[in-house]
Amino acid sequence: MQILELKKEFDNDWQTISDSQDLEKLRIKYLGKKGKIAQAFTELKKLSLSEKKQIGPELNELKKEIEKNIDKFSKNISQKEELSNLYQSLPGKKPEMGHLHVTTQAIREIIEVFKPLGFNRVRYPEVDWDFFAFESLNMPREHAARDEWETFFIQGLEDKKMGKAVITPHTSSGQVREMLKGKLPIRMLNIGRCGRRQIDINHIPSFYQFEGLVIDKGINITHLKGLLDYFAKNFYGPERKTRIRPFHFRFTEPSFEVDINCDLCLGKGCRFCKSGWVELGGAGMVHPNVLKFGKIDPEKYTGFAFGWGIERTYMMKSGTKINDIRHLFSNDFRFLEQF
Ligand code: PHE
Repeated sequence: MQILELKKEFDNDWQTISDSQDLEKLRIKYLGKKGKIAQAFTELKKLSLSEKKQIGPELNELKKEIEKNIDKFSKNISQKEELSNLYQSLPGKKPEMGHLHVTTQAIREIIEVFKPLGFNRVRYPEVDWDFFAFESLNMPREHAARDEWETFFIQGLEDKKMGKAVITPHTSSGQVREMLKGKLPIRMLNIGRCGRRQIDINHIPSFYQFEGLVIDKGINITHLKGLLDYFAKNFYGPERKTRIRPFHFRFTEPSFEVDINCDLCLGKGCRFCKSGWVELGGAGMVHPNVLKFGKIDPEKYTGFAFGWGIERTYMMKSGTKINDIRHLFSNDFRFLEQF
């Protein structure tokens, strides 16, 4: 009888077990009533006394070893299985729900304010020709007024008639595009991404603007003032104050800048606003030359336009307390999660 071979066989089988079912099969194969060990004891009886004396203790030893191994492994395995059952029944981790970026939320709110007045939301190219960004807005090539727009030009993209391609520095680039559609009257709300070479507490190089354009017969400055007031009251609430200051734009005449009292310091003057007022953007009556570029007769039609930065407009909303516009551009989740 080969005790050594039996031991080897057991060792081989031992390597293959991975769960309690395998272990039970192994136990039956070796320690069962008709198992290998029981068989070996039956064979042992047939041997001579001297052989019995030699092999008997070896076989007993092997039996004990197998029992010990199986016992130990069975304890480990049942503990492991119990644990994995426990984990399976633990409630899973829910994937975190995201939400819209603050700027997108602001865009949606602004659209809602203008909707009841019949404004039609449009969008125009964010990379557009110089013609639409400047020339058709009464700013001929090389005109100094353009410097204010800190424009990004697209290298190597130029058209003889249309000029260079630019990242639109303002949504006013949609004004003449809208007029050239040839449908009057116009109530346009153009919302788009703009780019300018500026970054500080008050400016980011990639930002959003919303641009209103109204053109019809008999539109005058009181309509513009009324609309600005309507927006301020609806977006900011009746307690906030806005003001218009005379300004100069080449594409509106007269022109204004619109300010709101700062929400961070409530008009006292702080690091962000300095004077207590925050400039939201420009506005004015559409210049006759611009109407002509849009193939509209300035003798018959008049209109007004306004263009404001979305981020700044939102920052000034009561209680948002965002004290640096760059937060809205940085994509830091710790900041964005708060909204
Ligand atoms: N486009 C101007 C700016 O970005 C704002 C403006 C829009 C002014 C419409 C007048 C009319 O500064």
